[in-house]
Amino acid sequence: MCGIVGYIGEGSAKDMILTGLKSLEYRGYDSAGIALNKKGKILLRKESGVIANLEKKTGKPDFDGCVGIGHTRWATHGSPVRENAHPHLSADGRIAIVHNGIIENYLELKSWLKKNHGIVFKSDTDSETIAHLISVFYKGDLIEATGKAVAKMRGAYAIGVIAADEPDKIVAVRKDAPLIAGIGAGCNYLASDIPALLKYTRDIYLVENGEIVLITASEIKIYDEDMTRVKREVMHVTWDAAAAEKGGYEHFMKKEIYEQPEAIRETLERRLDEGGNIKLDGVTLTKKEWGRIDKVYIVACGTASHAGMQGKALIERFAGVPVEVELASEFRYRNPLVNDRTLFIGISQSGETLDTLEALREAKKRGARILSICNVVGSSVARESDDVLYTWAGPEIAVASTKAYTTQLVSLYLIALHMGRMRGFVAEDEYRRVIEELRALPEKAKATLKTEEHIRKLAERFYIKEQIFYIGRGQDVGTAYEASLKLKEVSYINSFAIAAGELKHGTIALIRKKTLFVVLATQDALYEKMLSNIEEVKARRAHVVSIAKKGNKRIAKVSDETIYIPQCADEIAPILAIIPMQILAYHIAKLRKRNIDKPRNLAKSVTVE
Ligand code: F6R
Repeated sequence: MCGIVGYIGEGSAKDMILTGLKSLEYRGYDSAGIALNKKGKILLRKESGVIANLEKKTGKPDFDGCVGIGHTRWATHGSPVRENAHPHLSADGRIAIVHNGIIENYLELKSWLKKNHGIVFKSDTDSETIAHLISVFYKGDLIEATGKAVAKMRGAYAIGVIAADEPDKIVAVRKDAPLIAGIGAGCNYLASDIPALLKYTRDIYLVENGEIVLITASEIKIYDEDMTRVKREVMHVTWDAAAAEKGGYEHFMKKEIYEQPEAIRETLERRLDEGGNIKLDGVTLTKKEWGRIDKVYIVACGTASHAGMQGKALIERFAGVPVEVELASEFRYRNPLVNDRTLFIGISQSGETLDTLEALREAKKRGARILSICNVVGSSVARESDDVLYTWAGPEIAVASTKAYTTQLVSLYLIALHMGRMRGFVAEDEYRRVIEELRALPEKAKATLKTEEHIRKLAERFYIKEQIFYIGRGQDVGTAYEASLKLKEVSYINSFAIAAGELKHGTIALIRKKTLFVVLATQDALYEKMLSNIEEVKARRAHVVSIAKKGNKRIAKVSDETIYIPQCADEIAPILAIIPMQILAYHIAKLRKRNIDKPRNLAKSVTVE
């Protein structure tokens, strides 16, 4: 997630950039840096840790200038140390870049730069490649060199660039990562997000995918991929600072729901190499060690435990190892059967949930190998684990977990497939098929968000209900649990999730006229059975809202309402199916006038037993 900021004008670039970076703190970061162009020389300062560390480094008056770029980094490629912090310089120190996103083909570019230009890399990042690439193409025209460099890059990026030889400009370019340019008086700005600029200007240009921007003190020119000048309307921002942090959304929960396509892409793409092979950074288990595992425990709380339910299905299917999913609050009180052939997977967004942490310690004592899935870099769970696979969801501020959940699912797919390959269990064509399905996920998640208007209208009809049931089969059971939790925590409606086949063993007694059933029917293999379950509850005069894959028309005939998600393989459906459920919970809570981002009695991180 992290953020970039740029300034060009007559004032102090350093001051503006530091203020801008502080306003982007909510995006999360673990190091920060600034590069300035002063009299044809690039000055660079960067530090790991909080922005105050950078402020100390940039404190002296001789470190200032009228043009510069800055960055807050959240470690992905390489650890959060000074060397990996941005900006990065070209080998001759005359080009500086800041970058948000992922350069997917950076290894290929890196070896090309090493081989053909003898470049020695100073960091472990993918981003450093960009500085060298621009420098290789640089013949005195920064915008031309940047254009040539991005034509070689694949991935997602928002990049800011300065060149020592062109102190009168900043060049920026964007693809699948947010970027705006701000219009000042005698100066102009660049940033990842509006809050960074609110103290300075409210007039901005939204930069679109594929566009390249030339910023001087007096003008901002936007070009498309063919270098044709683009005309863009100025957007005047009327939000206050608090609203701007929410990116114009009314609540963090909604913003975070909408950030899911990007968060999924971040979590996924960094772990796939050119050939579509999974590389689990932060996981050091060898092929032999993967092979020795004879049991997996997935342990977590709340939403993270629902991700664990999906993880069980995935690991058993792709890696052929039996998996138990346990609530962390139960695990250590029941003498779990753990030994040195057990892999303990702890899932925690915050990495500070005490029950999960204590369960992890207990498993460690009993000899298990500890692998955690965490969203917060350097958190307690991450630090106490043998291996960590980070979800790159960016900070999750709303108490109700949304993007952390979907990125936990992505991480579990990666672990299951990688484990299956290391153990020689998953067939190669199956592995490839699922990787392709995963790669299509960010776009499909984006398409799923389009269900919002339909769901908002449904919420208007159902928000007065005092009880809602969620049912599903197979992997839809976990989705039903998570959908139900989402609804109850933000709307305070008494909701209940159950495997559809269990209904007739008791719960069916609760059905009365117009009892609302949300039916998850995304599993092709169980589709017919779900149709029967719908008939079963309809016969008792329940009201049915179904969630199905596009193209499944029969379900619309038997349901009162149907929400469609894009076509996808059954195993992938849980990631898409939860999105409309999050949106439903959000709109019902909004209509009931709940404190959506901070529901009563709940805390974001539960550090007590
Ligand atoms: C629900 C929710 C909680 C958390 C649970 C675990 O929306 O957010 O159920 O999932 O408290 O928290 P972490 O993942 O931080 O360990």
